[in-house]
Amino acid sequence: MVKDLPTPRGPDLGVYVHWPYCARICPYCDFNVFKDRGGDEPAALARAIVADLEAQATLTGPRRLVSVFLGGGTPSLMDPAWAAEIVAAARRLWTAGPDLEVTLEANPTDAEAARFAAFAAAGVNRLSLGLQSLEDQALAFLGRNHDAATAIRATETAARTFPRLSVDLIYARPGQTPAAWGEELARAVGLGAEHISPYQLTIEAGTAFDRAVRRGAFTPPDADQGAALFDTTQAVLGARGFEAYEVSNHARGPAARSRHNLVYWRGQDYVGAGPGAHGRLTLAGVRHAAEAPARPADYISSVAAGAVSRQALSPVETAEERLLSGLRITEGVLLADVAALEIPPARIADLVALGLLHDDPERLRATPAGRLVLDRLTSELAI
Ligand SMILES: C[S@@+](CC[C@H](N)C(=O)[O-])C[C@H]1O[C@@H](n2cnc3c(N)ncnc32)[C@H](O)[C@@H]1O
Ligand code: SF4
Repeated sequence: MVKDLPTPRGPDLGVYVHWPYCARICPYCDFNVFKDRGGDEPAALARAIVADLEAQATLTGPRRLVSVFLGGGTPSLMDPAWAAEIVAAARRLWTAGPDLEVTLEANPTDAEAARFAAFAAAGVNRLSLGLQSLEDQALAFLGRNHDAATAIRATETAARTFPRLSVDLIYARPGQTPAAWGEELARAVGLGAEHISPYQLTIEAGTAFDRAVRRGAFTPPDADQGAALFDTTQAVLGARGFEAYEVSNHARGPAARSRHNLVYWRGQDYVGAGPGAHGRLTLAGVRHAAEAPARPADYISSVAAGAVSRQALSPVETAEERLLSGLRITEGVLLADVAALEIPPARIADLVALGLLHDDPERLRATPAGRLVLDRLTSELAI
């Protein structure tokens, strides 16, 4: 007999699961990643993630589950049976909404594409594929372990296997012209994904690319060149029916938006499980932040010990987070949600006059020009 799930109470919930292993570490990446060395640790990690979700469900109580996101790292390297257990645990612990989005991040190698069907059977209904580029030379520069032909094959397999598909691309590579980028992006659109995330290459402190730039091995595009490439991105995707609902996220219509990312950007609640995962939960009306230990072994032992570090955020900290994430999306953030910041109306009026904010009595909404200078906008609003 199917057990009745309790009626959900409290705000909707997303679940983020971090799978930190990668076949090789890309020279630009500063996510919490570890080289996949096999052994017993991955299986122990999968068990710890399920135990962590069970523990956190006792805190949240019954909630409506809108998204499960298996991110990384490279979760497409995980045994699909573990993905099935994690997804089943989330469905058992909370009440799945009618449209539950279950996303898996994947790298586009042949070995991983061969397992896509097993991930779909595990309950994944949206794949987020790290295409990065359709140029062999660029993929070699980015240190990727696949060429363009392999990535295209994997994209075609993914499009046949999953109801929803998103692809990531990295642009603003050294020497890249707007014309070449526009042509590459148009080809990527032709692969049929409903969602495209083109990220400007960021040189993150401490990465191999950071060291390479310091010793003069290459020079990334400057701010003007970056802005021209950003404009090309907006123009090419806009002309092909993709709305830029966030700085680096474009969807073929509202239904194609990432529900999971919207959980973050709208300041909704999410449970984080896995090494280094962050979570945000509203408990007894107060927003709480959690961050798991970064190293897999430390995370596994902390779950076994029941040691979760969770801290209450002040109303100002909560409002600052809402502002930072809300300005990234076209719908913006309700003024009522950032009331704790006590933003003087004159400062908002100045930013409207500068063309950086829309004139809206209820919401702070960045204009396209404002979204280009988000750091400035947020620092002026949250002084
Ligand atoms: C956490 S990664 C996981 C995806 C998957 N492991 C892969 O590499 O295909 C998510 C995305 O972040 C983007 N990314 C990571 N580091 C970046 C950087 N330094 N600059 C721009 N984009 C970056 C890449 O597009 C990548 O696909
Ligand atoms: S970009 Fe993806 S594959 Fe490369 S190190 Fe980062 S998470 Fe791993």
